[in-house]
Amino acid sequence: MFISEALNINEKGHLTIGGVDSVDIANEFGTPVYVMDEDLIRNNCQLYFKSIKKACGENGTALYASKAFSCLYVLKIAAEEGMGLDVVSGGELYTAHKAGFPMDKVYFHGNNKTKDEIELAIKLGVGHFVVDNKYELYNINEISEKYNKVSGVLFRIKPGVDAHTHDFIRTGQIDSKFGFALETGEAEEIISEALKCKNISIKGLHCHIGSQIFEVKPFIHAAEIMIDFIKTISEKFSIEIDELNLGGGFGIQYLDSDDPIGYDKYIGEVMTVVKEKTKEYNLKMPKMILEPGRSLVGSAGITLYKVGCVKDIPNVRKYVSVDGGMADNPRYIMYNAPYTALIADRADDKNTQTVTIAGKCCESGDILIKNADMPDIKVGDTLAVLSTGAYNYSMSSNYNRIPKPPVVMITNGKPHVIVKRETYEDIIRNDVL
Ligand code: LLP
Repeated sequence: MFISEALNINEKGHLTIGGVDSVDIANEFGTPVYVMDEDLIRNNCQLYFKSIKKACGENGTALYASKAFSCLYVLKIAAEEGMGLDVVSGGELYTAHKAGFPMDKVYFHGNNKTKDEIELAIKLGVGHFVVDNKYELYNINEISEKYNKVSGVLFRIKPGVDAHTHDFIRTGQIDSKFGFALETGEAEEIISEALKCKNISIKGLHCHIGSQIFEVKPFIHAAEIMIDFIKTISEKFSIEIDELNLGGGFGIQYLDSDDPIGYDKYIGEVMTVVKEKTKEYNLKMPKMILEPGRSLVGSAGITLYKVGCVKDIPNVRKYVSVDGGMADNPRYIMYNAPYTALIADRADDKNTQTVTIAGKCCESGDILIKNADMPDIKVGDTLAVLSTGAYNYSMSSNYNRIPKPPVVMITNGKPHVIVKRETYEDIIRNDVL
């Protein structure tokens, strides 16, 4: 019945997460509140490593794409589980540094890293830059020289693969702001430029075709294209590529009907193709890197709200308003992203009606779920939206000056705050009179 192993129903009929009563969590920590299950995050990390090991032995690893959810505690979990880390900004990098993340395992992404961000990364000892454009390459070379360092780089390539996902989360096609296109020759050009840079060491190639993908085929297709490109540049420039990073993008379950790919199946099939092609071309097998974000943390999280108002407009729509909304979860307003919700107080009640769950922002599009099948709902009920562990807290805002909710982690059956609730004082902290 549930779309996450972390969830269950107890004898009171309440939804539990990580074995803890979600209604008790709502009462103790207030609403809205994000709640996450540490066991499931750790388990997801371990499943990736298991599948990678099965498919490529020690010659593979996984990085946590921290944009999905970055905070000190979660990065500490990722480090303890042996993950590397994808960061895309000075802020994500700083969080990694403060969490004590091993900097040699950090990969710095992004399509417009500023000189300050590059300098911070070099000073902190970041292991790899994933280069997006030529300006950045020259900046990394220049700043590395200043610090008497040689920086390891991968190049972000657009494999031209069209994965069926929302337009805004599709990145592998030629019309994308990210990376170097193959068709135009710019991907080859940047390799030739990098070879001229004394403080740059070419480590590998990277691609990322999109997010929330449910098919193996586009991943296989991208891998094939990347190996073909490795062959081309190996011959043309007589270089060896040590690392091939195929990005993240694996879909998770938001609805009953979603059917995610098993890690073993996805990783096994992709690696088989990579091995066959490298053998056929007589290339060195690169170290294989995957970069999951959503699939590590997404289904480990839920958000709890209180219902404050039920408005039935006869023959039009029934709105159920909760005490959060687009400020803590902008994914409906941005992508029409679907979610599943339950009444946490009566989690096994049968659905009896169709309602639209709305937020409290001054914005008609502030919807959490449109046309959700739900049981009877009363003002004061606790509503749980499922699979909110990825791209919710990390994309939250203070629109309408709404303080961000806290994040409560369940560790060994005990809830504890890993990110505090913002206060009104936090809201005006940077205002100057
Ligand atoms: N690597 C790179 C270079 C990426 O750009 C991303 C996601 C990932 C890895 C991780 O992808 P994942 O495994 O999480 O799918 N805000 C959107 C998702 C944007 C994803 C951006 N890049 C959403 O809420 O659906």
